[in-house]
Amino acid sequence: METKSKGYDLSIAVNDFDLSYDDVGEGRVPVIFLHGFPFDKTTWEFQLEFLKFTYRLISCDIRGFGKSTDESTHLSIDLFTDDLIKFMDKLKIEKAIVCGLSMGGYIALNAVKRFPGRFEGLVLCDTQCMAETVEGKRKRYEVIEDIGENGVEKFNEGFIKKVFHPDSPANKKEIVDQLTDVVFANSQHIIIQGLKAIAERSETCTCLDKINIPTLIMCGREDKITPPALSESMYVAINKSKFKIIENAGHVSNLEQPYEFSKYLSEFLSGLGGVGVESPPLKKTRILNGSESKNMNQPSWFSGFRILEKR
Ligand code: MLT
Repeated sequence: METKSKGYDLSIAVNDFDLSYDDVGEGRVPVIFLHGFPFDKTTWEFQLEFLKFTYRLISCDIRGFGKSTDESTHLSIDLFTDDLIKFMDKLKIEKAIVCGLSMGGYIALNAVKRFPGRFEGLVLCDTQCMAETVEGKRKRYEVIEDIGENGVEKFNEGFIKKVFHPDSPANKKEIVDQLTDVVFANSQHIIIQGLKAIAERSETCTCLDKINIPTLIMCGREDKITPPALSESMYVAINKSKFKIIENAGHVSNLEQPYEFSKYLSEFLSGLGGVGVESPPLKKTRILNGSESKNMNQPSWFSGFRILEKR
């Protein structure tokens, strides 16, 4: 069932906070996008513009991030999933296709494990199913301690360097700068809370063989945080899965190779049959300068390009 309000930067009370989201396009089954840590919903802007003529697309600011401000709650992946389900209930979305990148993927897997009947498709991007290792946990808490003592700047700068393909800082400067702004917009408290949520996540690997919905797994070839081998092992374990490696991309493959990423996503969605609106074949795609963005409040991830028209 459709809600009446559509557009960008909408807000709805979910559990005990206001969840900020974009909701564009029409379709029988919406695709819900969940961003990575410590990003926000604007990182899906390209995918929304690319696919909105055919599908209903919703990108959420996860609790605490972006405009979904919450500076007081103890964050966890389970809580993020509870928020997602409550959000779907509030919007009267019985079933969705969930697409999560990295931490968003941890949430997507957690949600499909706990609420299998609520999802018709799963898209896992630059993510993994494992819980934090003992060593990984120790390192996360060391980082948290360092942030508590010295502030968040060093962590943020190091993190930005780690997420991109080595060539991106030179070749995709605009995207790197925009993601830097998104990361630095978080409070120190939220960075710490997010790191704790990730460190304490539970594994979902043992439920992969029970996932019975079409699944697309994508990963940047140069992803150093969740390398392709981790995606490949999920591909092997999930019955109805497809696996695409995104060349010339690191951990943020949807930003670094937005066309390739969106094309694979589009192919996957059209293969599901009937989740979008029936539309005549593509006649014309006009690409204009990003300055004509309709959504001027948000960063443009298009490196100067925007798809304005489909037919
Ligand atoms: C993310 O991008 O969401 C994080 O890098 C995930 C992680 O550090 O495990």
